Amino acid sequence: MAVGAKFLIIDSKGNSRTTLAENFFLGYRKVDLASGEILLSVFLPWNKRFEYVKEFKQSHRKDDDIAIVNAGMCIQLQETSESWVVADASIAYGGVAPCSLSAKKAKGFLVGKVWDQNLLQDALKVLQNDILLKDDAPGGMVEFRKSLTLSFLFKFFLWVSHQLDGVKESIPASHLSAVHPVHHPTITGSQDYEIMKHGHLWVLLRFIYLQNLRMLDYMFNILYTQVTGEAEYADDIQLPSNGFHAALVLSRKPHARILSIDDGSEAMSSHGFVGLFLAKDVLAHNKIEPVVYDEELFATEYVTCVVFQVIGVVVADTHENAKAAARKVNVKYEDLPAILSIKEAINAGSFHPNAEKCLIKGQELFYLEPHSSLVWTLDGGNEVHMISSTQAPQKHQKYVSHVLGLPMSKIVCKTKRIGGGFGGKETRSAFIAAAASLPAYLLNWPVKLTLDRDVDMMITGQRHSFLGKYKVRFTNEGSVLALDLEIYNNAGNSLDPSLAILERAMFHSDNVYYIPNMRITGKVCFTNFPSHTAFRGFGGPQGMLITENWIHRIADELKMSSEEIKQGYISHYGQQLEHCTLHQLWNELKLSCDFVKACEQVDLFNSHNCWKKRAIAMVPTKFGISFTTKLMNQVITIYNHGRCSGSCLYRWNCFSYQWGVEMGQGLHTKVAQIAASAFNIPLSSVFISDTSTDKVPNSSPTAASASSDMYGAAVLDACEQIKARMEPVASRNNFNSFAELAVVCFAERIDLSGHGFFITPDIGFDWKMEWNLSNKVILEPHTPFRYFTYGAAFSEVEIDTLTGDFHTRVASRIMVLVLSRNPAIDVGQTEGAFIQGLGWLALELKWGDAAHKWISPGCLYTCGPGAYKIPSINDVPLKFNVSLLKAIHSSKAVGEPPFFLASAVFFAIKDAIRAARLEVGWSDWFPLDNPATPERIRMACLDDIASSLINSDFHPTLRV
Ligand code: MTE
Ligand code: HPA
Ligand code: MOS
Repeated sequence: MAVGAKFLIIDSKGNSRTTLAENFFLGYRKVDLASGEILLSVFLPWNKRFEYVKEFKQSHRKDDDIAIVNAGMCIQLQETSESWVVADASIAYGGVAPCSLSAKKAKGFLVGKVWDQNLLQDALKVLQNDILLKDDAPGGMVEFRKSLTLSFLFKFFLWVSHQLDGVKESIPASHLSAVHPVHHPTITGSQDYEIMKHGHLWVLLRFIYLQNLRMLDYMFNILYTQVTGEAEYADDIQLPSNGFHAALVLSRKPHARILSIDDGSEAMSSHGFVGLFLAKDVLAHNKIEPVVYDEELFATEYVTCVVFQVIGVVVADTHENAKAAARKVNVKYEDLPAILSIKEAINAGSFHPNAEKCLIKGQELFYLEPHSSLVWTLDGGNEVHMISSTQAPQKHQKYVSHVLGLPMSKIVCKTKRIGGGFGGKETRSAFIAAAASLPAYLLNWPVKLTLDRDVDMMITGQRHSFLGKYKVRFTNEGSVLALDLEIYNNAGNSLDPSLAILERAMFHSDNVYYIPNMRITGKVCFTNFPSHTAFRGFGGPQGMLITENWIHRIADELKMSSEEIKQGYISHYGQQLEHCTLHQLWNELKLSCDFVKACEQVDLFNSHNCWKKRAIAMVPTKFGISFTTKLMNQVITIYNHGRCSGSCLYRWNCFSYQWGVEMGQGLHTKVAQIAASAFNIPLSSVFISDTSTDKVPNSSPTAASASSDMYGAAVLDACEQIKARMEPVASRNNFNSFAELAVVCFAERIDLSGHGFFITPDIGFDWKMEWNLSNKVILEPHTPFRYFTYGAAFSEVEIDTLTGDFHTRVASRIMVLVLSRNPAIDVGQTEGAFIQGLGWLALELKWGDAAHKWISPGCLYTCGPGAYKIPSINDVPLKFNVSLLKAIHSSKAVGEPPFFLASAVFFAIKDAIRAARLEVGWSDWFPLDNPATPERIRMACLDDIASSLINSDFHPTLRV
């Protein structure tokens, strides 16, 4: 549109016509094409002399995302003796109206005028009246979008001016920062891990190192099947012939009384319909939940969550037919008042009147494989088996038993692998299996229930949002004296693991800081949202983010850097931090990132650049390893020698073990390594079959990052048992191979199967205990965690203050792990967790509420990858370094701990905004909620353009 492009349109008979781009776009998703016509080509005229053309785009994410606002601008100038005069102008915007829009008034205004600074100021004013966005314009972010229309013109003006003799001289060098594109070098990364070279450890390490090479081969095999699509996930499993597909009947009210559910007559006439199952059909118990039975499998009298509570399940011959029939089930409601935020959920009077607030937002899990269960009956309907995508097969077994009224022994749940869980399949997968089991059992026929992505995103819950209220006392030197903290989490409409998540947040509310006096209270808030759930970190990151917020607040008050606030060696709940390497780690990171020099360079950059700001931040973390629910800290594995007849020795070399779900975190590879080294056999000889409740009963979900610790120990236990039984035979003869030994043992009737068991020792915590840290009077037990994984991150970011764009220039992380059994996996976990954390802190989740003008209350807007943006390739820091530091004793858990380190990017963004605000005279502390979206970043910068649109207390409304 800006350059006057022409579109050539042709119809099926060969008739053609041309139209200007400007006239082609007619309305929302409507273009000037009749039926039978296609757009054949686009003609772009050549540039003329002194014609300047530029494009602009700002989106949430750098790649693969539609624009929030984009623009094309073109100006034709004429040189006169003392000035440049506008001969023609064209300014077009996208993202401000139902279709692309020409700024006609601005054009009219510009033509004939002299191109100078005065022109810019007036043009910006004209533009404000030209591009009108109503407060309730679809797309929201009205102030931000208005500011982008102005910022783009501002940038365009500078961009043209700095190419014009006689004008460029009047532009201060620091303003050119509005024009320079972000330099985007190739992304580089380094991965650093130690290999010790002395004593017996060297031997061990050499062994591990060699294993590692073999391991790569092994991992390659596992990965190969995944990238080629050969690896089977639950939904890939072929349904037995004529198997049924299920779809859920879902409510559409935040809070309502169910007046009636039709008998399915309309649904019954739907194509391929087989059956409709409601609460009244549930054989035993309709109340389900991992902790307290406060959730209904199928809603009976009330629906309590906005987007889609499950009311029943329809089965049909195909997935599409099941969905179509489910939509036809008519439900009549009477609306009831709904609670749609933490603030609404708590009694306002329960707050400390002077306390500061800190709001932490949720996050969608976005595992690649959505929830899925395939359920069938056996032995004439007497047994129920299922294959599920879950971190907790035992929970599926339990829920199905509960709903069908069958003993758990008649129910088997198997999981081969899952396409990511991240906590989202720790509890929230079980109701899907239970819903599918009812028709499968009643019809005595296989039923598959796989959620579509949008349904999955809407009904299975997210990371909990949190509200923190803090009062903190500290000295002028930055020592924290006392903290009074209240935290709340938004549980949604059932308890699920929300209490355990709140508790972990409370345990992590010191992050790494020494707080001698502390009072902390936590409350779970029930709201009319889907039940929120476990997500990498399990409340820990939310607790630590609240802490970092008030630490930064103190640093801000004292005008010192948060990096100077003291660290501690005892947690606020009395657990001593043994072998704490935080100081060492912190100092090493500071040194390796050349912190002081980096600070100086950032200051220098900021003083020379008005519209781009840089900042750095360092954040430490400590993450407690153990399930906070003590009884969950137990695992069993079964380890079998491959029994088989025949003479092939290689068959005897095969071992398999079960339990522990592989979700991409590399658990199976790590545990197989342990087994292989225990027997000194090649890794390829260890086969890991599916995780199945009939092989290993009573197991905890694969979660809490402790799986390789726990399953590793349990497998070792099983291996040691088998080895001990083989020992008498082994010591009698010299066998050429392990297989030969196994054959002889079998002949001598030696049990070649082991049952390994492991419980995490020395843990326990009593919430009712009292203690006094200063007097060191601590009553046992006070050790919820077996140990802590420590880490720290440094990051440097650059923001564009005119658009809110940011990029991470450097992110360096150190994790204390040690003798990494498998550096490839551990490095991968820290990289993955960091980027996932970045998504939480800088990308977004949008729910509607009463104040939202265009998303109705409680509706999830971001229910698919089109609107919900997880980080992609260009969100990766330009320099992305990871170091694994040697810990003193054993290896350490890695799955969740690095997640929080992405907050270094968040706080660097905040500091960069602060630098921008300082320049326009705002030195006060300001709040920044996660995620730090372009909208939040830009609107916080408060330059003239922003100030012309908003007040300084403006708060962009993304709601959870
Ligand atoms: N990595 C991948 N690729 N996929 C996942 O689903 N889940 C994370 C983490 N890393 C996850 C992952 C979470 S939430 C946890 S608790 C741990 O892996 C669980 O596995 P672990 O105990 O073996 O570390
Ligand atoms: N992490 C994960 N899952 C859990 C925990 C935990 O600490 N406690 C109870 N379930
Ligand atoms: Mo992880 S949130 O403990 O599955």
